[in-house]
Amino acid sequence: MTKPTITEVENAFQPAREIDSAARFAGRGDAVGDAYYGLIAAGSHIAIVGNRGIGKTSLSRQVANMATGNNDLLERLHLQHDRKLDFLSIYFACGKTTQNTTDLLERLLTSAGCLGDWIYDIPKASKIVRGYSPKFGVNVLGAEVGLGGEKKTETTTEPAVTAHAIDTVFTNAVAAIIEQNISTDGILIVVDEFDQIADPSGFASFLKALSTNVPKVKFCLVGVAQDIQHLMKEHLSSDRLFAGSIIALPTMNFDELKEIMTIAESAVGGHIKFSSSAADRLAALAQGHPYMVHLVGKYAFRLAFQANKKIIEPEDIDATVRSIAERGADPVLEGRYKKAVASSEQREIVLKALAETQAADGEIWTTNAYKLALDQGVDNASQYVGHLASEEYGNEIEKLRDRYYRFHDSLFAAYVKARPRLVQKQG
Ligand SMILES: Nc1ncnc2c1ncn2[C@@H]1O[C@H](COP(=O)(O)OP(=O)(O)O)[C@@H](O)[C@H]1O
Ligand SMILES: [Mg+2]
Repeated sequence: MTKPTITEVENAFQPAREIDSAARFAGRGDAVGDAYYGLIAAGSHIAIVGNRGIGKTSLSRQVANMATGNNDLLERLHLQHDRKLDFLSIYFACGKTTQNTTDLLERLLTSAGCLGDWIYDIPKASKIVRGYSPKFGVNVLGAEVGLGGEKKTETTTEPAVTAHAIDTVFTNAVAAIIEQNISTDGILIVVDEFDQIADPSGFASFLKALSTNVPKVKFCLVGVAQDIQHLMKEHLSSDRLFAGSIIALPTMNFDELKEIMTIAESAVGGHIKFSSSAADRLAALAQGHPYMVHLVGKYAFRLAFQANKKIIEPEDIDATVRSIAERGADPVLEGRYKKAVASSEQREIVLKALAETQAADGEIWTTNAYKLALDQGVDNASQYVGHLASEEYGNEIEKLRDRYYRFHDSLFAAYVKARPRLVQKQG
């Protein structure tokens, strides 16, 4: 490959995007295998849970790829598989406006790119949905949308729709789509950011009934949570619905993080590379978070390209991290950092001491953290720990039990650890 273009260099890493293509997807062999089994297991649904920035959406894209017959990733990972799967696959990301199960089911039926287009094309399905409520009919059947404005006041007089009604409508509508035999394996519905739904009550029992009535509909629920019970905010025996297909994404290991770098290097034809110590430095500061590799990698590549440099060294990684902090390349993480520190040198020392003394499982024993802070001249660290756990300073850490704390968000902890000091030493 000749010298890469700026566009290629800028897109070799993708901190702002999930990984769609199998070719750029690093590691995660076990998770991909579990997801594949979840797809082929009749009657099972899939759940992908884990911390933010850990790679849930990217994995769900690979699930959709496999569901629609793309076996590239399975082949690359040497995972056993047989025929190409043939699901009709739809993807929906919940936002703050998806507040409950009814909202979710309504949106899945009507949103562009979801089931709306299929329902529109299948007379039986559109009849079912139109019957749900006149207001709904207007939304789904695009032709009538023009009624808009003056009709709006009328819709408010309609009786509230019960969750039961939408359950039935959804079930019947998907059954009508399945009847058309559009796809051999049925429908895969990926619901991303499921954790954003404030009140998902009723979803588990809906899913249970759906699995009995229309077994060819498979859900893949994705969200920030430690397990399926937390994701569904329900303590019920929903485990069976996900028989063996709950994928809790752990942090990535060193080799997986380095594979992300290798993939980026090949995207620029090997014209920019990390020295092996620079790759180690970047993998270490990422603390298992693929997002950090992409964020730092992107700016490291940019700096190297501008300086006409072929090999990125550890000092370049350090300089890149400084520049990321200065330019606020991730405004959310940087904003949280500034809020926690709030221009106190002492609080910054304690914050960093906490990040540096995390055990492998994320727990922080304050005895260790206080000692580190004391070495840097802070003798009342516990007071600052109190601050950092309070709303005023962003509530970034939580107390687990006597003398044990942890960061709510391991990605933020990695950022705290990597970021250079903000407040200069006074005097
Ligand atoms: N398997 C992977 N290989 C390479 N990059 C990944 C992988 N998984 C995630 N990423 C990258 O990590 C970042 C976060 O991924 P994303 O899927 O959006 O995480 P989440 O949905 O858990 O917040 C993105 O920049 C994405 O490109
Ligand atoms: Mg995501």
